[in-house]
Amino acid sequence: MPEFMLVQIQHIFQSASSDADAFNWLFNAFLAVSGFIILLVSGLIAWTVYKFRAKQAAVSAGQIPASTSRKVEILTFGLAGLLVAVFLVFTVRTIYRVQTPPRPGQQPDLTIVGHQWWWEIRYPDGTVTANELHIPAGRRLWVRLESADVIHDWYVPALGRKMDMIPGMSNYVWMQAREKGVYEGACNEYCGAQHAWMRIRVTAHSPEDFRRWLGEEGKSAREPKNELAKKGKELFHKKVCAGCHSIRGHTAGDSARIGPDLTHLASRKYILGGKEPNSLGALRAWISNPQAVKPGAHMPNFNLSPEEIEALAAYLNQLK
Ligand code: CUA
Repeated sequence: MPEFMLVQIQHIFQSASSDADAFNWLFNAFLAVSGFIILLVSGLIAWTVYKFRAKQAAVSAGQIPASTSRKVEILTFGLAGLLVAVFLVFTVRTIYRVQTPPRPGQQPDLTIVGHQWWWEIRYPDGTVTANELHIPAGRRLWVRLESADVIHDWYVPALGRKMDMIPGMSNYVWMQAREKGVYEGACNEYCGAQHAWMRIRVTAHSPEDFRRWLGEEGKSAREPKNELAKKGKELFHKKVCAGCHSIRGHTAGDSARIGPDLTHLASRKYILGGKEPNSLGALRAWISNPQAVKPGAHMPNFNLSPEEIEALAAYLNQLK
């Protein structure tokens, strides 16, 4: 299990946004009221069972006269109806609070595309990255969600709403992280064999750090310095890796989006949608037999020789 899942299995009510605050408030209110009702009903049942238990067969529960029971019925139905009405009001209020419309003509701050089984992340300046999302803390971002294949579902509980990503259409959510930090989430709609390994890792930076990060991420890939990595770069093209993966500056453009963009792969903490910490060993294992590492993944096995695997892994591992 990756370290971030162990160390930061986060509190279910963690909130880093006004939207998550609103959800948590509503959830807690529902929980408190329904918890009270469950305790009350269970208590009454237990009390009745005890009071009229068989040992004291002589005691009869008796019958409540029809006029009284009608009053009780009206009272219970009335209370239940009132409760539903009150929660309807709170729910609608929450929906309005989190679903504020964007400014007219507002362009999304981010586009996220769900793929089996990874996330493509596009910034308005053209920078593309995968799986690990970086955002500026403090701002409420308008995010477009799309899918490249089947229905996925974006959910980072601390940052706001969850939302389906549906092929052929765009959905939008607000996303906010009040504070700097790392926030986790996962795909929330079953999307095939590796649904469980579509983890989300969002890093919220200070605005200056975010600008710096985006500047770095937008740069072309570095040129390999040692012979092994240079050989890896050649192989990347020879073995048609570039048909699915883009490496800006090394591949023809950055239009190949069947697999994740690898321009700055080595700067990511995890690979394979959060399944493995990013390391030379994990890259080697993945390239040599993808199906053994992440069964069902769309990465083919190219039956590479050990030398080829070494070279390719060395090349990828220096793409900082
Ligand atoms: Cu993507 Cu579940």
